[in-house]
Amino acid sequence: MHSTRQGDRIAYAEHGPSGKIPVVFIHGFPFNQAMWKPQVQAFKNAYHLITYDNRGHGQSEAGDGQYMIEFFVDDLMGLLDHLKIQKAVLCGLSMGGYIALRAVERTPERVCALVLCDTRCEADSNEAKLKRAAAIITVKEKGVPTFAEGFLKAVFAPKSFETRPQDVEAVRKMILSNPPLGISGTLLALASRTDTTAALAQIKVPTLILVGDQDTITPPAAAETLHKGIAGSEMHVIPDAAHMSNLENPEAFNQHLKDFLNKV
Ligand code: MLT
Repeated sequence: MHSTRQGDRIAYAEHGPSGKIPVVFIHGFPFNQAMWKPQVQAFKNAYHLITYDNRGHGQSEAGDGQYMIEFFVDDLMGLLDHLKIQKAVLCGLSMGGYIALRAVERTPERVCALVLCDTRCEADSNEAKLKRAAAIITVKEKGVPTFAEGFLKAVFAPKSFETRPQDVEAVRKMILSNPPLGISGTLLALASRTDTTAALAQIKVPTLILVGDQDTITPPAAAETLHKGIAGSEMHVIPDAAHMSNLENPEAFNQHLKDFLNKV
């Protein structure tokens, strides 16, 4: 365990030998570090992998529930300091990508490469902000299980419910294990995040962009914007996957990640 600057505990795990290139995996909303299982299994012998639960998620404490993406970046930097890691590869999915994009904008010297999965640089539109408000109401009035069912339908491709029921179930459990305060607090942070589009041109590190071909939350068009904005970036569309591309097609996802990390 490690603490945020507000004193709340952050759960993290290290996998594989230290001394190798550190790769920090940043999970999406409202999951936890367990979503990176296929990547931890595939890469733990070759890299120093770090997974952690963002505040309000998994085993990390929810604190006061008043979050901004800036605080998630504080937590990430605090974790790197705690582990005495000066520079790392940041691999973030969706909200994890928002955190990675703001981290590289704020402290480019701490990042040696970026992997941006199923994510975007644009801030929430008015429509998206109103959807966050509706989601907070659902969590408050109907509870996390009702919220979780709607969210699962949005993040997995329809076929994944038949072909990967164990992954759908694992993600359902991750969502259900989060406290309502953590979920609502994170929805506020997502709605209030900054737009990182203008900062893309400043990204000078190798960048891999991955997106599920059926992702409707952060679709391939959003990945294209990242690809066009980040000079020299590499982009691949993952077949048979929606928003959870690392779980829905781990073979394709890991192959692209492996090829990319070999070059870092
Ligand atoms: C995520 O997977 O992190 C969320 O879907 C991101 C979002 O809702 O913007």
